[in-house]
Amino acid sequence: MGPGVLSELLAKLPPFSDPAVLVGFDGSDDAAVYRISDELVMIQTVDFFPPVVDDPYTFGQVAAANALSDVYAMGGKPVIAMNLLSFPSCLGLEAAGQILAGGADKVREAGAVIAGGHSIEDKEPKYGLCVTGFAKPDEIWRNDRAQEGDLLILTKPLGTGLLATALKAGELPPETEKLMTAQMCRLNKYAAESVHGLPVHACTDVTGFGLLGHTLEMARGSGVTAVIRADSVPSLPDALHFAEEGYVPGGSYRNHDFVADELSVPPELPLAQLDLLCDPQTSGGLLLCIPESHVPEALKRIRAFEPQAAVVGRITVRGKKAVMIE
Ligand code: CO
Ligand code: CO
Repeated sequence: MGPGVLSELLAKLPPFSDPAVLVGFDGSDDAAVYRISDELVMIQTVDFFPPVVDDPYTFGQVAAANALSDVYAMGGKPVIAMNLLSFPSCLGLEAAGQILAGGADKVREAGAVIAGGHSIEDKEPKYGLCVTGFAKPDEIWRNDRAQEGDLLILTKPLGTGLLATALKAGELPPETEKLMTAQMCRLNKYAAESVHGLPVHACTDVTGFGLLGHTLEMARGSGVTAVIRADSVPSLPDALHFAEEGYVPGGSYRNHDFVADELSVPPELPLAQLDLLCDPQTSGGLLLCIPESHVPEALKRIRAFEPQAAVVGRITVRGKKAVMIE
């Protein structure tokens, strides 16, 4: 499904109302937030998808890192996870076991536990997690609180969609594939925890909607304009090259359609750059809004874990469009 489709369908149903649900489907945040007490909120999220890499153990790691990420993007700590697995029995139980082992290792690294799950027979394998986490109410990061004067920090380089497309076509050099899978397996835990205690006005993780799609949700929800500096956006090696060569995943075009009405693009921007900014990410980095005076400290801390983290733009008062590329 394209960006926002599920929210649109749910909006047609009679609304739920529970005052303890602090973040729900009315917004476009990464996870739901439920107030348990004045000191504690529960964060809940779910994510699963078909294999993005051939190796089942690696796929399990990537899918788990991706699912856990939404808890980190809300400023929380994951505690319990449940497996979601669909699998064709003809592929053999060993591969299914490898997927689960990859997922379990990431959940362990996150300091959480797998407490069960559900599996079904399906033509195509799919794997992911439903994750529950916790946070203090005043430490929650939402994606709709960006403020004028914030700078935007992106913690991981873009390009996993482009590289995965090149991989499927058999065009990706093995050393680039290694870099791509290592990045997709890396938990956003370290980048998130490194800035706990600093003023983070808003945060989201960059996944299927691409940098521009997630930036639009943030800017629109916050009533501001986000200005993205295209030449500051970090990318994986060869990502721009594969964009120029036309290895552009279908999701990239859907993401461009999703943002087009709210996007201002300079006429001289190379098409490959736009493809990169719309590239759907698997287990992408965090996009953080931090007031400018705290950015040097934030960047120093994040780069200890994510050396390619960079300031990719800034937040201004709402202009004609919600997202501007410069
Ligand atoms: Co997310
Ligand atoms: Co998600």
